[in-house]
Parts: sequence; C-alpha cells; structure tokens
Amino acid sequence: MKIFVKDLKDGDFITDEVFSVEEVQMHKTRAQNPYYRLVLQDRTGEVSAKIWQDDFPNCHIKNLESGDVVKVDAQIQSYNDQLQMILKKLDKTEDYDISDLVQSTDKDLEKMYSQLLAVINDVKSKDLKNLLKDIFGDEVFVKKYKRAPAAEKVHHDFVGGLLEHTLEMLDMSEPLLKSYPEADKDLVVAGIILHDIGKLEELALKKTAIIRTTKGRLIGHLVLGIDLTRDHLPKEFPDELWMKLEHIIISHQGELENGSPIKPATIEAAIVHFVDHASSQIRQFQKAIKLGEGRDPGFSEWQKWIGTQVYLD
Ligand SMILES: [Fe+2]
Ligand SMILES: [Fe+2]
Repeated sequence: MKIFVKDLKDGDFITDEVFSVEEVQMHKTRAQNPYYRLVLQDRTGEVSAKIWQDDFPNCHIKNLESGDVVKVDAQIQSYNDQLQMILKKLDKTEDYDISDLVQSTDKDLEKMYSQLLAVINDVKSKDLKNLLKDIFGDEVFVKKYKRAPAAEKVHHDFVGGLLEHTLEMLDMSEPLLKSYPEADKDLVVAGIILHDIGKLEELALKKTAIIRTTKGRLIGHLVLGIDLTRDHLPKEFPDELWMKLEHIIISHQGELENGSPIKPATIEAAIVHFVDHASSQIRQFQKAIKLGEGRDPGFSEWQKWIGTQVYLD
C-alpha cells in the first residue's frame, strides 16, 4: 500500500514509493555544488525533497517536469521541524493510481458543499437566489465545481480548493458586513460565490498537474465567469443588479496588474476584493510554512506571489 505524505516520519527510509512532481529546480550550495530541490506531492499534501550531487547517478531527472509521476527511494528526515526527503533513487513511472496523487482538500467535500447550499438558501434577494439556484441546479456544473481548484500554483491549488476558498471568504466577510451595514449582504454573498466561477474553465487537470487551459490563457477567469453567470441569468433579472454583480466579478482582482481591468467601485466589490486578497495571500504563508526551510536558514524559499521569504520561527 502506498505511503502517503501525511504518514511520513522522521527516520523512515521509503522504497519504490510513488509521488507526483510539483516543482523541480537546480540550486547551488554555498560551496557551489549543484543539487536539486523538488516539491513532491500526493493527495494528502506536499513535501520538499533534495537530491545531493552524490545521488545524481541514481536519480533520472532529465526532462522531468511538473505533473510527472516518479517512483523514489528516499531517506525521510526532519529539518527545522519540517519533514523533507533526501532522494537516493528516482525514476519516472506510468504505473500509478491517479486518485492517490492529485492533491485534494483535507476537508469533507460534501460537507463543504452543503455549507455552501445553506448560504445560498439564506439569500434574501429573490433575483440573486434564483440565479444562484439555477447555476447550482446544473448537475454537470456541480460535479465539476466540487472538485475545482482555485489556482494553478498559488493558493488553494488542489481539488476542492475553489470551494474551500469560497467558504473561507464567506466566513471572512461576516465581520466586515457587521462593521459596514451599508453593504448589501446578498450582493456580497453572491459576488463571493461567483467571483472565481470562471476558474472552472480557466484551469484543468493534465496528468497530475493543474494547468491553465487555452481559453484560460486567452480569456481568463473574470470574463469566463461573467459569461457563465450570464448564461444562467433569469428573465427579468434587474439590469442594475446585474451590472453591480458583473462589476464585482470583473474588479475582484483589485488592480490592473493583477488582471482586473477596473478597480472596485462599490462597497460590495471592495469587500469581495479584500477578502479574496486575504484568503489567497495568507494561504500562501501557510503553504510556505508547511514546506519548510529553503536555501536560507530560518526562512522559506522565495515566495514569488507574496514577494517574501517567510520567517519560520
Ligand atoms: Fe480570481
Ligand atoms: Fe478568488
């Protein structure tokens, strides 16, 4: 039976265990000796792995890329409170069970989905409720939605990530809605639920990796999300309400350089943007802490998306 990332223990030596590759990079030690640093994963999580120069002959790393599956022998060790693998042997393999490998939320998908349905049921505005019910009444959509990741590589980049991200944002919005009673709660709730809905078409699974589809690259999840929502708009949906909802979806990334053509211009859009930003940014700190120390003692690897190396105290 496969040993999963969550079951790895300091001091174990594993043989012929299968993981998928999330990242592979060559680095140099202070003495300028090359080594590889990989991030390996399975459905239970990810772990950082190293290949020291002495082990290069037994580690067939040529052309290895994200999404490939490898069979490894490795020493598991604890390094600054985080487990890492020291790889002794590595070969690509085609012999694997995909459900073992694709990283998934550690929360219960069905339970999370019921929570979301409960939130939709609580929406007071008939128009917004009908719209949400129509979208989430489509079985094919729901099947895809429950498993959708929220990102390719950044935050919530795993099966069920979109649902987890959405519920996190709904939670975070509650105190804000209390503090700012001017904001229309139903519009914020609908905006949160629909803001990243275009990710269903922007992202897809290739081998074991989450990739950006051609449509995702050319159109992006803001416009794809608006198209999807528009397809479900009930007849007689008020124009003004649609414009406000469309505005939330199109402005939620907040800044031009983050992919939004327009900045939030309503209080509801601002709330959706800020909770989206908080959920996506803080999650990356959590991810960096989990992966542990990088090249510099006491700090994670450089986190491109948050622009820092996280201090690991
Ligand atoms: Fe987004
Ligand atoms: Fe988001």
